[in-house]
Amino acid sequence: PEEMTVGELAARLHLTASEVIKRLMTLGVMASISDTIDYDTAAMVAMEIGAKVEKEVVVTIEDRLFQVENEDDDSTLVERPPIVVVMGHVDHGKTSLLDAIRNTNVTEGEAGGITQHIGAYQVMVNDRPVTFLDTPGHAAFTSMRARGAQVTDIAVIVVAADDGIMPQTVEAINHAKAAGVSIIVAINKMDKPHANPDKVMQELTEYELVPEAWGGDVPCMPVSAKTGNGIPDLLEMIQLVADTSELKANPDRMARGTVIEAKLDKGRGPVATILVQTGTLHAGDAVIAGSTFGRVRVMLNDRGERVEEAGPSTPVEITGLDDVPEAGDVLNAVEDERLAKELVEQRKHEQKEAQFSAYEKVTLDNLFSHI
Ligand code: GTP
Ligand code: MG
Repeated sequence: PEEMTVGELAARLHLTASEVIKRLMTLGVMASISDTIDYDTAAMVAMEIGAKVEKEVVVTIEDRLFQVENEDDDSTLVERPPIVVVMGHVDHGKTSLLDAIRNTNVTEGEAGGITQHIGAYQVMVNDRPVTFLDTPGHAAFTSMRARGAQVTDIAVIVVAADDGIMPQTVEAINHAKAAGVSIIVAINKMDKPHANPDKVMQELTEYELVPEAWGGDVPCMPVSAKTGNGIPDLLEMIQLVADTSELKANPDRMARGTVIEAKLDKGRGPVATILVQTGTLHAGDAVIAGSTFGRVRVMLNDRGERVEEAGPSTPVEITGLDDVPEAGDVLNAVEDERLAKELVEQRKHEQKEAQFSAYEKVTLDNLFSHI
């Protein structure tokens, strides 16, 4: 059939007839419950319902969490460390560079203490902390970007001086641009005999990244993760760029952060690396992360040391969630565990509804065939 009654459409969309009639009116179609409407009109209503349901899910949860962005009064904001993600083509030296940064800036005594690798860590540069997201954070970064979450402030794009711009470099550039973060290019492997930084800079201009040295606004820092050359300058540049951004957060509120990575540990249960973005997370806090909830049991810093609290831009590893959240999930501290549980149940329910409405959209073509 090419048409159905308003009543039938309402039944298929699990709406009341009056709801459908109201929708039809906004589309300029006057119809009563027994009137027939054609496929296109029915599809338009179904489409609109699907979109609306999805929008409502977001609003409801956010409202209940009282976590609307920018609600903090200016007077509550204090400086926070910059969050830096390191990206680039495979084998161009991201991990080596991060290791070199860590080694350069970790004092002798601490160096041996870095047993815990949690995918995100802080180093001190001129007595001020800088937070780095390690390569596993890359996947999270992608997923977070897909959800429109702004997690990082600065992207360091690593390009091997002997290799130049490669497909994943382009990907990284596009990610950074889409996220609207500041870009710094680290031209790595400068110790290699065939290092050609000019060629790298030339190639960058093809992607509208004009090096500072050539009158543009993209700092290009020659470095060698192998020898350590250039790394102090790179760190200085990161701090300089961070300072111009005036990065601030309110540490005196319930924490909100993002799940960087998460796994199920045999002994400890679900373990999640959280990057706290605003507020302060405390051991014992009731939290919700995606569709998981719990109470922060043990909180470890990037050196594997137990800590009782973590402020803005601090990466920590937590246990105590009832399940493994997904990278990119937002974590919120809430008043108590009962509320956390209730919110998660609501969220799961809403996700099911949203899935259902998405399903309805997908099966629009079948809308008529089952009647
Ligand atoms: P993926 O994580 O696989 O994408 O690679 P990556 O970008 O993390 O590169 P990684 O740090 O693993 O380095 C790849 C190779 O390049 C290793 O063999 C490193 O030793 C080498 N390498 C990294 N940086 C330098 C450098 O500055 N100079 C030289 N000569 N070799 C380097
Ligand atoms: Mg690596």
